Parts: sequence; C-alpha cells; structure tokens
Amino acid sequence: MEEKDILILAIESSCDETAAAVVRNGREVLSNVIASQIALHTQFGGVVPEIASRKHMEQINQVIAGALKEAGVSLSDITAIGVTYGPGLVGALLVGVAEAKAIAYAAKKPLIGVHHIEGHVAANFITNYPGCGSDGISEKVSGVSGNPSVQPKLEPPFVCLIVSGGHTHLVIVKDYGEFEIIGRTRDDAAGEAFDKVARAVGLGYPGGPKVDRAAREGNPHAIEFPRAKVEGAPYDFSFSGLKSAVLNYINRAKMAGEAICVPDLAASFQNAVVEALVSRAVLAAKEYGYDKLAIAGGVASNQALRAAMAKACKENSLCFYYPAPVLCTDNAAMIGAAAYYEYQKGTRHGWDLNAVPNLKLGER
Ligand code: KG4
Ligand code: ZN
Repeated sequence: MEEKDILILAIESSCDETAAAVVRNGREVLSNVIASQIALHTQFGGVVPEIASRKHMEQINQVIAGALKEAGVSLSDITAIGVTYGPGLVGALLVGVAEAKAIAYAAKKPLIGVHHIEGHVAANFITNYPGCGSDGISEKVSGVSGNPSVQPKLEPPFVCLIVSGGHTHLVIVKDYGEFEIIGRTRDDAAGEAFDKVARAVGLGYPGGPKVDRAAREGNPHAIEFPRAKVEGAPYDFSFSGLKSAVLNYINRAKMAGEAICVPDLAASFQNAVVEALVSRAVLAAKEYGYDKLAIAGGVASNQALRAAMAKACKENSLCFYYPAPVLCTDNAAMIGAAAYYEYQKGTRHGWDLNAVPNLKLGER
C-alpha cells in the first residue's frame, strides 16, 4: 500500500443487498462483498422492508469484516468510510448509516455519505473488475472497443443513462458528483416495468434477470408493443403504457384460452424498453455534443440493452462505457468509487448524518 493511496471502506444497504467493499483511489476494487437477500424475499414476490432491515443487521458486521479481510487491510489502513444514505428503504439505509458512523467514530476516520445513484454512475469509473467493458459485447458487435485495457478511462463530462428498480434518468455528468438531469421517467422506472411484467407472466422476483434470460430464447419481433413518446419532452420515458399493453395481451390470451409464449413475450417487451432507452440516450449524447455514453443501474446488466447500446454507439461514433454486470446491480464498490471523488472534493459528513429515503440526485 502506497502512503498516498486513498482507501475507502464503503457500505451499501439501501435495499436488499448488504454490501461492503474496499476501493483504492476510486478506481481499483480490492474487495467487493455482497450478501444478497433475494432468496429470502422471493417467497413474498418482492422486497419486504422489515425483513430487509433485520437481515442487514444480522449480516453487516461479517460483510464488513469479510471486505477488509479480502482486501488484506485493517481498519487502520482505511482513509475514510463511505456509506449510502439515500435514496432507498429507510430502515435498510439506517443500518448502514449507523454502522458507518460507529466505525468512523471509533476509528477516527472521516465519514462520507453517498447518494445511491451517484454510486451507480461511479461504477463506470472502476476499471480493474473482471467483466468491466468486456463481457462479450465486443464479440457480438465486432469493432466495439470493449476491453478496459484499450478503452480510455472514463472521466466527466459524459452522458449517462441510469436505469434501476427505482430510477430511470438521463443525465449529463458534468464533473464527479455533478449532474444535470435532462430526462426522466414520467411513471414506472425501467426495472420496475421488468419486475411487473415478470410477475404477470409468472417468472417471479427479481424480474429483470428472469426476463433477460427468457428473452434470449424468444423473438423480439413476435409481438408489436407500443413505444411511448412523451410529447414535448424528447428525453423523457414512459413505461406504464407498455406495461399495460403487456398485461392486456396476457389477459386477452387467457380469456381466449390461448397459450402464451413467454420467451416471445419477454423478448418483445424487452425490445420495446431497450429501443426507448437506446434511442433517447444516443439522441441526448448527439444533441448535447458529448462523445461518451455510459449506462448504470441494475437494468444496465441487461444483455440486450448492452448489445443494442454498443451497436448504436458504434454507428454514431460514441464511446460506450458499461460496468461489469455485478457492478450494475447494488454493490458497495460503486459507493467506494463515488465516495473517493467526494472525499477529494472535501465532502465530509457529521455524526448527525441520517438516512434520507427520498434523497434527490444532486442534493447533499
Ligand atoms: O440498481 P438495482 O440493483 O437496485 C436499485 O437501485 O433499484 O436495480 C434493480 C433493478 C430491478 O428492477 C431488477 O429487476 C433490474 O434492476 N435488473 C434487470 C436485470 N438485472 C437487474 N433488468 C433487466 N435485465 C437484467 N438483467
Ligand atoms: Zn441500486
């Protein structure tokens, strides 16, 4: 460890993953431990907030100990503690925030509260993780530079499409932690639409990865679903009409006693979402004059979205950035990356740091 190295111990507990990571100088992940609660919530068809908080409490100490051990460092080597303090489930967030405050206080380390979505965006700054920019996209779309060793490291400004379970935002990342929101969803988030459609066809929770998988066997042009545009807002999204169209399709088929081809339905729905996301993101990059486009959030791990974005970026001479799939869904390494840049800017939080369940992007 170099004397000047900045090591962040990061904690994330905003939803159903208890996660801790050690990140060196914002870009290098020394450890990334994620205890997922998915199996626990599956039986209820979605995240149960009370169960999530209790499970975070049970797991957080061992997850943090595991992250330090895997990184080969002790608490005394750590420069600062970074923690997600919003947005998310309040009880879940509180577990991470209280833990981070306790550690920072006891070990006399600076405390840095991180916006969860700022963390998702910062996953694109991590360059040493297997799969970053090289998960096979380059083989499928020839000529796309997908290897982090040849792709220049990402620095602002750039356009980022943020697509998670709770957020669908198109932003210009002007500087580290500085965002201008240029588009957002008017109703459901992209991940939410995936989850609802998955539930309707009986694929279960979590829906996104299951639709992604089913769609690989299906025909994306089998069913023509509507592509909604928001009048006068070229960068905004709307997924509720699409979701209703899928539900109507299922109901009609059921009433007529017809079997539903789940792979075709999954592929057709996914194709409509991907088209909406890619077209607006590429338009934004071109219209605003940026040559770098990144994706972030759980839905950014979607294989069809990654392939379509890679193709569109290539056709439009844009440099495409995407985190490794495991860094797209909730993790603490991304929080460590964001906390590093906040640390460099001088952001420090006091012992009064609280969980803010509806924290807005750009708010401190
Ligand atoms: O970023 P994330 O882990 O948590 C939030 O901050 O919301 O995103 C979770 C969302 C869920 O809606 C999940 O279904 C979706 O991301 N998701 C996917 C895929 N993997 C996760 N959606 C589509 N395709 C995937 N492969
Ligand atoms: Zn998230």
